[in-house]
Amino acid sequence: KIYKEPFRPQFHFSPEKKWMNDPNGMVYYKGVYHLFYQYYPEDIVWGPMHWGHASSKDLINWEHKKIALFPDKLGLIFSGSAVVDIKNTSGLGTLENPPMVAVFTYHNMDGEKSGRKDFQTQGLAYSLDEGDTWQKYNGNPIIKNSAQKDFRDPKVFWNPETNLWNLVLVAGNHAQFFTSENLINWEFQSDFGQNTGAHGGVWECPDLFKLQVADSQEEKWVLLISINPGSPNGGSGTQYFIGEFDGENFKTNQKDIKWIDNGADNYAGVTYNNTPDNKRIFIGWMSNWIYARDTPTKTWRSAMTLPRELSLVKINNDYVLKSTAVNQLKSQLKQEYSHKNITLKPNKKVELNYPNFNQSEIDFTTEDKDLKLIFSNEAKDSLTIEYNAKQKTFSIDRRHSGIVNFEESFGKQIHKTAVPNIVSNTINYQIIMDWSSIEIFLDGGIYSFTEQIFPNKPYTILTMLSNENQEVKAFSLSYIKGIWN
Ligand code: FRU
Repeated sequence: KIYKEPFRPQFHFSPEKKWMNDPNGMVYYKGVYHLFYQYYPEDIVWGPMHWGHASSKDLINWEHKKIALFPDKLGLIFSGSAVVDIKNTSGLGTLENPPMVAVFTYHNMDGEKSGRKDFQTQGLAYSLDEGDTWQKYNGNPIIKNSAQKDFRDPKVFWNPETNLWNLVLVAGNHAQFFTSENLINWEFQSDFGQNTGAHGGVWECPDLFKLQVADSQEEKWVLLISINPGSPNGGSGTQYFIGEFDGENFKTNQKDIKWIDNGADNYAGVTYNNTPDNKRIFIGWMSNWIYARDTPTKTWRSAMTLPRELSLVKINNDYVLKSTAVNQLKSQLKQEYSHKNITLKPNKKVELNYPNFNQSEIDFTTEDKDLKLIFSNEAKDSLTIEYNAKQKTFSIDRRHSGIVNFEESFGKQIHKTAVPNIVSNTINYQIIMDWSSIEIFLDGGIYSFTEQIFPNKPYTILTMLSNENQEVKAFSLSYIKGIWN
C-alpha cells in the first residue's frame, strides 16, 4: 500500500490511519520484530486506548497487522511490554509452543470519573500464534492498585542473573520494581526516584536494562523514565539514570539530569526484549503531548522515531548513553553524492540543490568549528541547525520551518542544547529527514535531536555556512527509499 498524504512519513512507522502514541510490547520472536502501539481506531485524537500492531523483519519495513488488544470491562489498554516466555513459566502455553506474554496497564474510566485513585492496574494477555491473536488472562488484574493515582506502564524482562522475571512500572513521581517466577504473581521489591532526577511532570514509560561500557569490561544498568511535562524543550521528554540493579533495588550516584534525546519530539521510548545478538534497540514516539493532537495531518496522527541502537560510553569521566540509527537503515539508502570535501570560507555560503531533502540522509565530518546548515525551499520555509564551537551548543530553529501555527509553542523557540560531551577534534553529523521529521545524530550519536517539521513544500536547498575556514569532509547525500511501496 502506498501512503502519500501530505506529511506522511515515507520510512518511519506510522499507523495506516487514526491516532497513535507510545510504542508498546516491543519484542522479537522467530525472525520478527513486533511493534505494538497505543492506538485509537476511531479518531485522529487520543481516545479509548487499544494496542495496534505492526511487524517487521528488519525494523525498517513494516507491515500493518490487526488490532491486538481491545478495551474490556476492566478498562482501556494503556502502555506496557511483551516477552517470550520460553520456559513456559506462566503455564499459559507449552514448552513446544511457548506463549508470548504482554503486560499492560488497565485504565478504568469509571473508576477515574468516580474520583477513585486506584483506577490503574496491570493486566496480562498472551498469544500462542506468534502474536497474531491475543487472549486476556482470566485472573486479571495481575497487579492491583492500592490507591496510587498514576500507576502504570509495566516493563517486563527476564533477568538471567537472578533467574526471575523483573517488572518496573511508574507510581506517580517514582519507579517501582517487582519480581516474579511466572509472570502472573508479582512481588513488590522497592521504590526509586522520589528525590532523584527531573520531576517537572509525572513519570511514565520506564525501561531498565544492562549495557557494557564501550572499551571496557564494566557493565551498568540504565533506567529510562519519560516525564511529561518537564523536558528541556518543554512538554514531554525522556531522562535516564545510570546505576546498579541487583534484581530488587536500583541505585545511582548520578547527580545531573540526563536526556536520551535533546529534540522536542522523542517521547515514551523503550527498548526491545529478546533481540538477536543482544542488541539494545530503542523506539520512541515522535511527538510531544503539548501539540500531539494538533499537528497538521488529516488521516492519521504521528509516527515513531527510527529504531536506534543504544550503547554506553564514558566521556569526561561520566557515562553517556549513545544512540545511532540501526544498521538496517543502510540497505534503504541510495547514494547520490559521495565523499566530497567541501571547503567553507568565513561567512561565504555554499549552496547545494537537491529535489527533496525530506527523504534523505546526509553524513559528513567537520573540524570542531562553528557550522550552520539551513534547509529551505521556494515556499520560503527554512529550518536552521547550528553548532557553536566556543559555547559548545547545538541548536535547532524550526520557527520558520513550514506550518507552525497549529499550536502556540511549536514554532516559538529555538531549541538550544549544551553539548559538553563533544570532546573530539572532528565531529560527525548524520542528518536523516523524512516528510515531517528530522533526526540528527551528532558525533556518532553522543547527542541526538529529533523534531517534527511540516514544510509547505519539500526542502530543496541546503546552505552551509561557517564564520571560520572549515573543511567539511566526506560529505555524502543519500536518497532513502520509501517503505510503503
Ligand atoms: C505516555 C502515556 C502513558 C500511558 C499512555 C496512555 O505517553 O501517558 O503513561 O500509558 O500514554 O495512552
